[in-house]
Amino acid sequence: MKNVQKFFYAAGVMIAAACLIFTSCTKEGPQGLTGPAGKDGTNGKDASETCQNCHKKAVVDAIATEFQLSKHSWGAAAFEEAGNTACGPCHEQKAYVYVCENNVPATFTFNTTTNKWVNGYATNAANAIGEIGCFTCHSSLHTTYETSDIALTNVAPVPMTMRGGLKTIDLAQGGGKSNLCVKCHQPRPLTCGNDPAARLLNYDSLISSPLTVMFDSAAGAKNKYLKPSYRMHIHYGAVGALYAGQGAIEFPGTIPYTNSPHTTKATCQDCHMASPMTGVAGGHSFNVRNAIETPLGSGTTWNFVGCNIAGCHIDAPIDANSVKWKATRTEIKGLLDALATKINACGGGHNILHSDASAANLWAGVSAGNFDGYLDIYSAGTNDDGYWRDPYNTSATNMAKPKFPKLLNVQLGAIINFQFCLREYSLGIHNTSYSRALLTNSVKALNDAGL
Ligand code: HEC
Ligand code: HEC
Ligand code: HEC
Ligand code: HEC
Ligand code: HEC
Repeated sequence: MKNVQKFFYAAGVMIAAACLIFTSCTKEGPQGLTGPAGKDGTNGKDASETCQNCHKKAVVDAIATEFQLSKHSWGAAAFEEAGNTACGPCHEQKAYVYVCENNVPATFTFNTTTNKWVNGYATNAANAIGEIGCFTCHSSLHTTYETSDIALTNVAPVPMTMRGGLKTIDLAQGGGKSNLCVKCHQPRPLTCGNDPAARLLNYDSLISSPLTVMFDSAAGAKNKYLKPSYRMHIHYGAVGALYAGQGAIEFPGTIPYTNSPHTTKATCQDCHMASPMTGVAGGHSFNVRNAIETPLGSGTTWNFVGCNIAGCHIDAPIDANSVKWKATRTEIKGLLDALATKINACGGGHNILHSDASAANLWAGVSAGNFDGYLDIYSAGTNDDGYWRDPYNTSATNMAKPKFPKLLNVQLGAIINFQFCLREYSLGIHNTSYSRALLTNSVKALNDAGL
C-alpha cells in the first residue's frame, strides 16, 4: 500500500499546484485591498471512491497474498526468457498483452530472404519483458479506475501455435475465460530441423504414412525431417489442447475421439481458482494440488471445492478417495505406462524416453518410469548422462554412445501423444475421454505397424 499512499500524495501536490494558477487582465490598475475569503466550494468527488472498490484488504491485498503462492509469481521462467521475442508471448507480461491486443497470428510464413518458414507468433523487442502478474491477465487495470477494469486480457478463441494457426481452441463456456489460460497453456510447434526450409512438421503424415521412416541413423544425409534430440517435444503447455480435445495425433483405432463433459461445461477457473483455499490450492494461487514444486506422486491433498459446485459433482462429491478420481487416474496411468513400454521397445533393451525421479521433473510420479517427455539422447549441459548418441553432434563423448534407433512416422506420433497425455499432469481428469482414446489408439497404431 506504500505505493498507493505515494500516489495520493503526488495527486495532492498536483491539485495544490493547480489552485495557484489564476488569470490576470492585460491593463492592470493598482492593487486593491484583499477582499474577504470566498465561500468554500462544494466537495469534489472523493478520488479514492472507485479506487476502494479494489484497493481494500479483502480484494487486491488478499488476492496479491494468494498470488504469492502461484508459480506464475515465484517461477523463474519470466526471468530466464526476458528479451526473447518468441518465448515472450507466454512467459513475459508485456509480450502476452502485446500478442493479445495485436491479435498476432500463429501462422508460419515464408521469408524469401532466408528461404525459411518462420512462425510469426512472437512479440516485438520492446515488449519482451515482465513477470506474469495482475496486469498480465487484467490488462485494463488503471484505465478507467472502475471495477470493470478487472476484465480479462483474452477471452477470444485461441489459434494453436503448434498447428501454425490451422486449428483453433475455443472454450466458450463462462464467457471464454478459459481461453485466457489456453493462450499460454498450449503446446508449441515441431519444426523440421533437417529441412533447410524449416517447415512445420506435417502432423497428418504421421497418421497417413505411418511406415515412412522419419529418422534412420544409417541414412545419414537422407534424413530430411525432424532431428531427434533430448528436447524434441511439444513444450510444456499440453493442458490447453488436451482439455479442448484438439491437436494431438489422432490415429484411427478402437476408441473414437470424444471429450469428457469438462471440455464444454467446466472452466479452468472452476477447478484452479476454487474458493475457499485448501493450503496452497485455490483462488489466485491457481493450484489444484495442495503442494508446490512437489512431484505429483507426493502431493496427497487437493482443493476439490470447484468440483463439487452446483451443476457439477454436488450430488456425489469428489474427494481423493472417490471412484471418479481414483479409478480415472489409475486407468489413465495404466494406459500411459503401456504406451511408454511400447515406445521404448525400439531401444532393444534400453529406453528411448528419458527418466528423472527428482523434483526437477514436473511429471515425476505421473508414470511408473518417471518419464518427463524428453528423449534420453546425450546433450552437453542438459542431459550429460544421456544414453543415446545425438545424431548431429560429433564430440568424442557423444560418438562413444550407441546410435539412436530408427524412428517411423507412427513412432513419432506416439511420442507426441505420450507427451500430450503425460504433460497434461492430471492423469485424465482434464479430459478422460480424449486421453483414453489417444493412449489406446496409439498403442494400436504401433501394433498395426508391427512394432
Ligand atoms: C479494478 C481494480 C482497481 C481499481 C479500480 C484501482 N486499482 Fe490500483 N491496482 C489494482 C491492482 C490489481 C494493482 C496491483 C496490485 C499488486 O501488484 O499487488 C494495483 C496497483 C496500484 C498501485 C501500485 C502501483 C502499481 O501500478 O502497481 C497504485 C499506486 C494504485 N493501484 C493506485 C490506484 C488508484 C489511485 C486508484 C483509483 C484512482 C486505483 N488504483 C484503482 C487494481 C485497481
Ligand atoms: C501469460 C501466460 C499465462 C497465462 C495467461 C496463464 N498461465 Fe499458467 N503458467 C504460465 C507459465 C509460463 C507458467 C510456469 C511459470 C514458471 O515456471 O516460471 C505457468 C504455471 C501455471 C501453473 C503451475 C504449474 C506447475 O508446474 O506447477 C498452473 C496451475 C497454471 N499456470 C494455471 C493457469 C490457469 C488456470 C490460468 C488461467 C486462469 C493460467 N495459468 C494462465 C503461463 C500462463
Ligand atoms: C505458447 C506458449 C509458450 C511459448 C511460446 C513458450 N513457452 Fe515455455 N512454457 C509455457 C508454459 C505454459 C509453461 C509452464 C508449464 C507448466 O509448468 O505447467 C512453460 C514452461 C517453460 C519452462 C519451465 C520448465 C520447467 O521445467 O519448469 C521453461 C524453461 C520454458 N518454458 C522455456 C521456454 C523457452 C526458452 C521458450 C522460447 C524458445 C518458451 N518457453 C516458449 C508456454 C510457452
Ligand atoms: C493468470 C491470470 C491472472 C492473474 C496473474 C491474476 N488474475 Fe485476477 N483473475 C483472473 C481470473 C481468470 C479471474 C476471474 C475469475 C472467475 O471469474 O472465475 C480473476 C478475478 C480477479 C478479481 C475479481 C474477482 C475476485 O476474485 O474478487 C480481482 C479483484 C482480481 N482478479 C485481482 C487480481 C490481482 C490483485 C492480481 C495480482 C496479485 C491478479 N488478479 C492476478 C486471472 C488472473
Ligand atoms: C475438472 C477440474 C479441472 C479443470 C476444469 C482444469 N484442471 Fe488443470 N488440473 C486439475 C487437476 C486435478 C490437476 C492435477 C493436480 C495434481 O495432482 O498435480 C491439474 C493440473 C494442472 C496443471 C499442472 C499443475 C501442477 O500443479 O502441476 C496445469 C498447468 C493445469 N492443470 C492447467 C489447466 C488449464 C489451463 C485448464 C483449462 C484449460 C485446466 N487446468 C482445467 C483439474 C482441473
